[in-house]
Amino acid sequence: MTRVRVSDDALALACGADEVAAAFRRQGCTVERVSSWGMHWLEPLVDIGGDGFGPVEVADVPEILRGDGAKAIGRIADHPFLTRQQRLTFARAGKTRPLDLGDYAANGGWAGLKRAGAIGAQASIDEVTVSGLRGRGGAGFPAGRKWQTVADAPAGPKYIVCNADEGDSATFADRMLMEGDPFCLIEGMAIAALATGADKGFVYVRSEYPHAFAKLKAVVALAAPLIAPFTIEVRLGAGAYVCGEETSLLNSLEGKRGEVRAKPPLPALEGLFGCPTVVNNVLTLAAVPHILSEGGDAYASLEPGRSRGTVAIQLAGNIRHGGLFECGFGVTLRELVEEIGGGTASGRPVRAVQVGGPLGAYFPPEMFDTPFDYETFAARDGLIGHGGVCVFDDTVDMARMARFAFDFCAAESCGKCTPCRIGAVRGRETIDRLLAGEDAAAQIELVTDLCETMKFGSLCALGGFTPFPVMSALSHFPEDFAGRGRGG
Ligand SMILES: Cc1cc2nc3c(=O)[nH]c(=O)nc-3n(C[C@H](O)[C@H](O)[C@H](O)COP(=O)(O)O)c2cc1C
Ligand code: SF4
Repeated sequence: MTRVRVSDDALALACGADEVAAAFRRQGCTVERVSSWGMHWLEPLVDIGGDGFGPVEVADVPEILRGDGAKAIGRIADHPFLTRQQRLTFARAGKTRPLDLGDYAANGGWAGLKRAGAIGAQASIDEVTVSGLRGRGGAGFPAGRKWQTVADAPAGPKYIVCNADEGDSATFADRMLMEGDPFCLIEGMAIAALATGADKGFVYVRSEYPHAFAKLKAVVALAAPLIAPFTIEVRLGAGAYVCGEETSLLNSLEGKRGEVRAKPPLPALEGLFGCPTVVNNVLTLAAVPHILSEGGDAYASLEPGRSRGTVAIQLAGNIRHGGLFECGFGVTLRELVEEIGGGTASGRPVRAVQVGGPLGAYFPPEMFDTPFDYETFAARDGLIGHGGVCVFDDTVDMARMARFAFDFCAAESCGKCTPCRIGAVRGRETIDRLLAGEDAAAQIELVTDLCETMKFGSLCALGGFTPFPVMSALSHFPEDFAGRGRGG
């Protein structure tokens, strides 16, 4: 009987994976639902004995089974999109059934936790510190240092909180990991708990991720005996972008309004219910099992700079070959967008990419030599954030994108501080005046001044980083602003 593997990842489902799976079953095949390889343009991708077919429609099924090659892409593992990658966190992507403990264990699962148990708490933290792993949620804070602070805090209740709110535009890596390899996240959290002395964990899952939520609930029950006495509770997020900010997330977890807390105190010292708390992104925690099993030195040696290990880059927007690209830091935007991503899906020239979500800067093609790492992006007034790369073609109106940044901030602001709460609204009004043709030079001066205030006067990065997309649009695409008003 032919064994057919089809992903049950939400993106594959949206592309018709369930219908394709059912069609193969009707033909008498055994169908296994596996994680996604992360090649989005090929979903639903069908795997028969390692050979790939995609994107498959129900009508293609009889031909595929007859050996017709119209949708054949050859050996999946040899696809150039995959062979250029270095998959550590996503090593099992496409290969295992997400809820199958046997698959997980047979493919390297639990080796990290086992080693952490053998070497003990402090040596486990040391491995993470040596690895150079930095937070993948956006701020890039060293994970080992955060864990050490929690471990050194006075004994008492301590928590591991996984930030799975994944609100950035063009990002989906957390979702892919939670849907495709959820035991890996559980293992990472269990190692964090062992290392810091925490006995309870929470996963705060984005409310728009029902599949990830359901899978996590299932694996937490399955893994409970393996991670005891540590326990994990899976919670659905409140549906606000700002609830991804760690202190706002903690308030939300406590049942309060998702409003940002002033820092200090750091969550590592006074976090959930006032107790020492590790708040880490999904990908930070999911990188840990590999680091523990293979050693921190090996992870650090992948990159000589300050950005160590691998980064899960997400290619999205107007791009031909969108998907998950895990590789060492240092790959350039040009390689990502033009070579790996194949340019725009529309076939028109690329005009801009926004990296790092809605608070990230827009880069024009002249800056595509920028290597993907924390420091270089910061030096060019950008951020890599959670690794989302959103591509725009030459029909994009950058003044409208600047307006969108203010609009987004106005909609998502928690309202705690004035520069963000009021500034975002005033910024949107000012761009509206510019778009209506009212003295462009005067509006640009106002926007620039407003951005300075938001940048330095906001309590958190929502208000503080909104100037990045606005000012990068203004400085790299001035022609979209200057020509619009009578004074421009
Ligand atoms: C407005 C805002 C939204 C954020 N959203 C997320 C998010 O969705 N997921 C995430 O992991 N971090 C998010 N962060 C970053 C978190 O505050 C925090 O830095 C992170 O959870 C720490 O984990 P890490 O060190 O593993 O990255 C956000 C920050 C801000 C200011
Ligand atoms: S910057 Fe905005 S989101 Fe952040 S604390 Fe201030 S009002 Fe809230």
